[in-house]
Amino acid sequence: MSEVQDTIELAKRRGFFWQSSSIYGGTSGFYTYGPLGTLMKRNIVQAWVNSYITIGALIVDSPVITQEEVFRASGHLERFNDLIYECPSCGSKQKLETLLKNSGSGIPKDAVQGNALIQEKSLKCPVCGSDKIRALEFNTMFALSNSKTGEGRLFLRPETAQGIFVDFPLLLKQNRDKLPLVVIQVGKGFRNEVAPRNAIIRLREFSMGEVEVFFDPNTTPFVPEKDQEEIVFVPKRSPEYRGTASGALDSGVISNPGMAYFIQKTHMLLAGMGVDKDRLRFRQHRDDELSHYSSECWDAEALLDDEWTEIVGIADRGTYDLTRHQSFSGKSMQVKVDGKEFVPRVIEPAHGIDRILMSILVHSRNISEDGYTKLSLRKEISPYKLAVFPLFKKDGLSEVAREIFSRYSKADPFCVYDEAGSIGKRYARQDEAGTPYCVTVDYQTKEDHTVTVRERDTGKQIRLAIDDLVAHPITTNPAVTSAFALP
Ligand code: GLY
Repeated sequence: MSEVQDTIELAKRRGFFWQSSSIYGGTSGFYTYGPLGTLMKRNIVQAWVNSYITIGALIVDSPVITQEEVFRASGHLERFNDLIYECPSCGSKQKLETLLKNSGSGIPKDAVQGNALIQEKSLKCPVCGSDKIRALEFNTMFALSNSKTGEGRLFLRPETAQGIFVDFPLLLKQNRDKLPLVVIQVGKGFRNEVAPRNAIIRLREFSMGEVEVFFDPNTTPFVPEKDQEEIVFVPKRSPEYRGTASGALDSGVISNPGMAYFIQKTHMLLAGMGVDKDRLRFRQHRDDELSHYSSECWDAEALLDDEWTEIVGIADRGTYDLTRHQSFSGKSMQVKVDGKEFVPRVIEPAHGIDRILMSILVHSRNISEDGYTKLSLRKEISPYKLAVFPLFKKDGLSEVAREIFSRYSKADPFCVYDEAGSIGKRYARQDEAGTPYCVTVDYQTKEDHTVTVRERDTGKQIRLAIDDLVAHPITTNPAVTSAFALP
C-alpha cells in the first residue's frame, strides 16, 4: 500500500481524521478531525501564527459567507473555474488536465481551446470509451441557495484573502497608516472540487492560513537572511537550483527579494514543524498554471508517495486585488507616503493547513522491519506530550498513577492517562499517536516516589522523582531535556 493510504488508515485508527458522515455513505471531500487530529492541527496553526506575530503581523477573523460583489471584484465569479470534461454517455466528470497528463500538450485556457484539443487528440472517456466527451468550465465556488431577495447572492469563500483585502483601509489604520502591513488569517475555505481525493489532501472544505503582505513597490522591506539552510528551487525556465534563498536571489533564480524572504521563512516553518527537508522543494508556476490574480507563484511542494504535492503557495498578487476593489467599490485603497499616493503591492504566502498536517504525518512515520510504527512528531506538534500509565491496575498502582496524572495535568493539560491492556500495547498506542514521552508507575514508585520516563524515538528510559515530574511541562523539564535530545 502507499504511504499516503497507510497514513490515512493510521489516522482513522488512532483518531486523527476520518471521512465525515460515513454512516450515510459520506460525501467526498469532507473530513472530520478526531481528538488527536484536532489537537495536532491546533498546534500547527499556533506555530504558524507565532511565526508571523513575531514579525509584527496583525491577525483577523472575517466571515466565511461573503457577498457576491466581493467575488465579482476579485474575479472569482468569472475566472475561478476548473476546466473539466463531461461524458454525456456515462456521466463521468474529471479535470481535463488529468486526461491530458501524458499527452504532452499544455493546459488549455478555456472550454473552446479544450474542445479543440479533445478533437485534435481524439480523446475518449476513460470510463466508458465514448468519443463524445466535451470540455466545460466549472466555477468551483459554493453558492448559497437561501440568500435573501434583494441582497444579491452569497457564497462560501474560496480563500480567506478577500476578507483581508476588502478591509484594507481599516487594517491600515490599525497599523497606524504604515507600510509594510502584514495581515494573517486562518479559517475555512470552500471549493467544489471536481475530484476530491486522498482524504485531507484535496478537500472541498479545508483550513487555510493566509498571509497578505502589503508594501510600497519601490521599497524592499523583506530580504532573505544570508547563510541560512539550503533549499531546492525548481524555476519554470532554468534547471533545478540548490542553495540558500539569498543565493537564489543573487543568482537571479528569484527576481524578487520579498518572494525570496517568504520562501526562506516558509521553508524554516515547514521544516521546523516536521516536514522532511529532503522531501520538500519550491517550484515556480508555469505561466499556464498561474491564478488569475498572480504574476508569479512558488509552491512549497512535499513529496507524498511519488507525487510532489502543493502545501503552500507564495504568490505575487501585485496590486490586482486592491485595484479591483477600489474600482468596483468606489472606495480608495491608496496609501499616502511622503506625499506620494499609490496602491500597495501584495505578496501572499497561503498555507494549506490540512495538507501540511498530512505531510507531517507521512514524513514522521517510522516503521521498523517488523512493522512497528512510531510517529516521530516534533514535540510542539504532537497532540499529547505525555502519557501516564500504571504498570498494572492492581496493588494500588492505578491510584498512584491517577494522582500523578491529576497533579501533572495542572502543569500541562496535554497529557493522557491509560490503563487499558498490556503495558506493551499502551506504549504502542502512544508511539502511533506521536506522544513523545510516557511515564510508568511501578512497584519501585511506591518505595522511592520515582517513575520511569520513556522517550518515544529511542525507547530510552530514566527515573525521575514524582515531585520533579509534576513541577514542569515534560517538554521543558530540565531533567528530561538534558537526558533526551528530542527534535
Ligand atoms: N489565496 C490563495 C489561494 O486561494 O490558493
